[in-house]
Amino acid sequence: MIILGINAYHANASAAIVVDGQLIAAAEEERFNRVKYAAGLPVQAIRYCLAEAGATLAQVDHIAIPRNPWARMGTKLRYALRMPRFAIERARVMARFSGINEELATAFAIEPAAIRATFHRIEHHVAHLASAYFVSPFDRAAVLSVDGLGDFASAMWADGEGAALSPHGATTFPHSLGMYYTALTQYLGFWKFGDEYKVMGLAAYGTPLFLDAFRKIVRADAGMKLRLDLDFFTHQRQGPEMTWRDAGTTPVLGRLYSERLEKLLGPARRADEPLEQRHRDLAASMQARLEEVLLEHVAELAARTKQKALCLAGGVAFNCVANGKMLERTSFERIYVQPAAGDAGLSVGAAFAVEHTILGRPRAFVMEHAGWGPGFSQTQIKHAMDERVAGNDGIEIQELDEDALVDAVARELAGGKILGWFQGRAEWGPRALGNRSILADPRRAEMKDVLNQRIKHREMFRPFAPSILEEATGEYFERTHPSPFMTFAYSVRPEKRAAIPAPTHVDGTARLQTVSRRTNPLYWKLIRAFADRTGVPVVVNTSFNDNEPIVCRPEEALDCFLRTRMDVLVMGNFVLRKSAVLNAENAPVQTPARRLA
Ligand SMILES: [Fe+2]
Repeated sequence: MIILGINAYHANASAAIVVDGQLIAAAEEERFNRVKYAAGLPVQAIRYCLAEAGATLAQVDHIAIPRNPWARMGTKLRYALRMPRFAIERARVMARFSGINEELATAFAIEPAAIRATFHRIEHHVAHLASAYFVSPFDRAAVLSVDGLGDFASAMWADGEGAALSPHGATTFPHSLGMYYTALTQYLGFWKFGDEYKVMGLAAYGTPLFLDAFRKIVRADAGMKLRLDLDFFTHQRQGPEMTWRDAGTTPVLGRLYSERLEKLLGPARRADEPLEQRHRDLAASMQARLEEVLLEHVAELAARTKQKALCLAGGVAFNCVANGKMLERTSFERIYVQPAAGDAGLSVGAAFAVEHTILGRPRAFVMEHAGWGPGFSQTQIKHAMDERVAGNDGIEIQELDEDALVDAVARELAGGKILGWFQGRAEWGPRALGNRSILADPRRAEMKDVLNQRIKHREMFRPFAPSILEEATGEYFERTHPSPFMTFAYSVRPEKRAAIPAPTHVDGTARLQTVSRRTNPLYWKLIRAFADRTGVPVVVNTSFNDNEPIVCRPEEALDCFLRTRMDVLVMGNFVLRKSAVLNAENAPVQTPARRLA
């Protein structure tokens, strides 16, 4: 039984394949076409998933699409009558989805009739809920999805029990906690799609002085009713206008806040204006209000369902600060957030919704690690090195066995080197979790600035994250609940903050990854070797990229290594070191050998 899930024509396009109840592969299109948040039909991700499963498109039994144009038709029709523009937009979307069979056939050069799969349309939030619950370790749980908007809803909650997922409520357009966060992110001068996490980082630098004003903007009423004061928003009048640029692949949102919001909070920050303390306080206020509203919502869900376990999905589930507080302030004791909690995860959710809800098959899979993307053999890595660095005198290459490798890497990290770590299969979701990571020494306070100057070139207010041996979590953090996918932020114990200054945020928290020996053995072994050498079971872990999607293939890792001032690159069993001269501040930018030829 082969089920292919496809999130298409939507930001974070992705594909996932489930064979006989087991997830075999899942990947975002951006990793292949190198366009961040890529939309469109994820042809390369689909091709990869099929190859990993050893199947052809013609062999697929079911195709699951996480969008249902017929969902909430009554509400949609009411809006369509009031707003002809909205009706035209919906018609366009529906036409596009109805042609997916033909578009797939064209992309895979087969006759449409050769695709014998049954197509299923799964409502957006049902797919989100399924993406969290069906791959969670829980037999029963409360399940909550919160995002901007999908199929005319912005949140949905359900009970999960065994292979049954029963939604029992939703927040519908135009009310949306995700829209609130995105609108305020724009107001603060961050306009790029996906910039919300930057404002979450900025919030730690401010004081929530404007919290009262923010209480006017959004509230959670009893009965799981989340309400926006629509006077401060525009999306309910024009629909969330999404335009497309860069060859139809990068999503761009239109302005979501109204002039009334500027009357309430003062003038919006232009993207090119410097960040002032007022902006930091506004960010802190907006995050504080999100936490108040979300925690009220989650506490009510806990009271209604009487469950101890919660599964979270949707873009808002990436708010690791709020997630950490749920453990403190609600009666939920365990929370599972799948690594691709945002819209990329919809392909996995839709596929499992077909497996369990439509086909009624029992559950047989738990997502315990994020390695569902492409992996590469030593031979493939060697081939890429021959192509990219052969004849480059400034780079020394060594091949080591696993014990010698982790020991050498721990030594380099402890010596202050910045190291690219490319191992196993690429991560599913937006976080590097020890397969496509850049690693550094957490004990050096200056490491954040060094990483930014030499490689990442990102806003200085954004924190870097720690990976910690799972068993040492309680020694360094005030909570021990596992965070294998970096979706929780906890307070670092005050007495440990000086020990790991690089990944400790200005407010004393860190967005940690807990690393388990069982599910991530090689990465665990490396951190263990670093701890043996330094006494600190933590490394700084940031995604392997420089203003681009996370590297996927060895070629992209090599290009990033050569382009930036990274000291060491480890790919499989190979260690590549740049000479000091090559890595000096004034050294010319390295160009891959292949391109010089
Ligand atoms: Fe969504």
